[in-house]
Amino acid sequence: MLRFSASENLERNPVPTADRMTEMTAASLENSYRGFVDPKQEELILVLDFGGQTAQLIARRVRDQNVFCQLVRHDLSIDRIRELNPRGLILSGGPASVYDQGAPHVDPALFQLGIPILGICYGMQLACQALGGTVKPGTKREFGRTESNVVHNDPLLQGLPATTTVWMSHGDQVDSASASFVALMATPTCPFAAVKHSSLPVYGLQFHPEVTHTVDGSLLLSNFVKQVCGCRGTWKISSLIEREVTSIRARVGNSRVICGLSGGVDSSVVAAILYKAIGSQLSCIFVDNGLLRKGEAEKVRDRFQNHFKTDLHVVDAKERFLSELDGVTDPQIKRKIIGRVFIEVFRKEAESIPDARFLAQGTLYPDVIESGANVDGPAATIKAHHNVGGLPAELGFELIEPLRDLFKDEVRRMGLELGLTEELVWRHPFPGPGLGVRCLGPLTAERLTKLREADTIVLEELRAAGLYRKIQQAFAVLLPVQSVGVMGDGRTYEEVIAVRAVQTDDFMTADWFPMPHDVLGRISTRIINEVRGVNRVVYDISSKPPSTIEWE
Ligand code: XMP
Repeated sequence: MLRFSASENLERNPVPTADRMTEMTAASLENSYRGFVDPKQEELILVLDFGGQTAQLIARRVRDQNVFCQLVRHDLSIDRIRELNPRGLILSGGPASVYDQGAPHVDPALFQLGIPILGICYGMQLACQALGGTVKPGTKREFGRTESNVVHNDPLLQGLPATTTVWMSHGDQVDSASASFVALMATPTCPFAAVKHSSLPVYGLQFHPEVTHTVDGSLLLSNFVKQVCGCRGTWKISSLIEREVTSIRARVGNSRVICGLSGGVDSSVVAAILYKAIGSQLSCIFVDNGLLRKGEAEKVRDRFQNHFKTDLHVVDAKERFLSELDGVTDPQIKRKIIGRVFIEVFRKEAESIPDARFLAQGTLYPDVIESGANVDGPAATIKAHHNVGGLPAELGFELIEPLRDLFKDEVRRMGLELGLTEELVWRHPFPGPGLGVRCLGPLTAERLTKLREADTIVLEELRAAGLYRKIQQAFAVLLPVQSVGVMGDGRTYEEVIAVRAVQTDDFMTADWFPMPHDVLGRISTRIINEVRGVNRVVYDISSKPPSTIEWE
């Protein structure tokens, strides 16, 4: 099974940020239930979740086809499905074998609804088993890329080459002797790599079309949605914004909502949606902890006070953080202090806002869930992402999480649609503890200024060289080391800046960026000339693992 990893690896220590402040309890998920606004107005595909790691990725690939798609529990009732009126159903993969005791199943009546169904991996085995086929352990487990041939033409395969690479990940497979199914694609070891029922609109794929390793996966999903289910693909990210706006208005009524701003993309998008939904009923809190990048507080003010005219509370807690961090050099203790003080400061400010009942935050799908419990029925078991901290439960707010089904790039598209700038939307991630994890050794105002200036130069030079968007994260680190240098006729004994720039898909693993030497040269010259107290610049050429992205 392909592991789908979080957009940001925050496993080291959960420091609450405005974007990620809460523990996903079952109760909070129930609270965040938003339901469907008006399914009849919109083409809808439902993915029934059987616990596969890539279930939400299927939903997202369908949304890429401009058809609204949402993950739902696998045991959603037939009545509810009818009511939601989807154009198609996709049964996701899952870790179980259909023969396991307690393995999740579907109501066989599902296949008689006349709604086109696509089963993927476990979902295919379920469909075939329910319709009279036999599932048996394959002669050998198949895992990884394999070549698959088209053996029978069908609208599902429209535009596909005769042979294509697919990604397999299974032990069991459907027995080719299953008379009610016709093989559409086959691999040397799997004669039923893609199948269609002989009379019902039921399809199965033994491989995973949602992962990029399946070269024509998007085409197959597009064919299912458009050729088989007949969707036109008129859904836009703006429809999602409208859907959220309507449901937030209905839920919030006349109450006040607090939104914690971190300066990052996720919380900014949440605030922009809320502003659109409830305008003056929104209060934003931005805690200036003195560990921010240069100009960050001003940018937030400009965005959320001048552009979106929100009730913005900028809490200047710089001195409080610095005094609590005075003399602390251990990175774990720094993180704990920063997290604790953040909560205290945030709570105090939140308490000063009368009538606040809700707290909005930018939890994204990769931060949250294993199993889709976000629609209907009692909340299922939820695996909280290890980054997620524990604030709102204590604060007693009800949660609003408009992004919890979405992936980062969908959130970026939403941000642009909502009028946020490209610069903000494409901003590299910045950790909750901020410069606190990049200023190694003691955190003093003077050392933080040094780091902030160097960091600004790194980012300016990357932007000027057109490299910022080619790198997923870049920054300066101030080392707790002094080294000898010579400036003019004098000997210097000053600090060292390390420059870090990485390329990564998921922040779980990362490669150091092969930075052009002229860019490195400009960064180094500028830092040494412009930042007082730094006489040496080094470039970090370590990958993750074994190193991490942050130095701490
Ligand atoms: P590491 O250093 O573990 O970082 O390779 C992976 C990603 O996580 C970010 N990071 C954090 N983000 N709170 C955050 O919001 C944190 O406490 C935290 N620690 C690390 C880091 O910047 C990188 O993107």
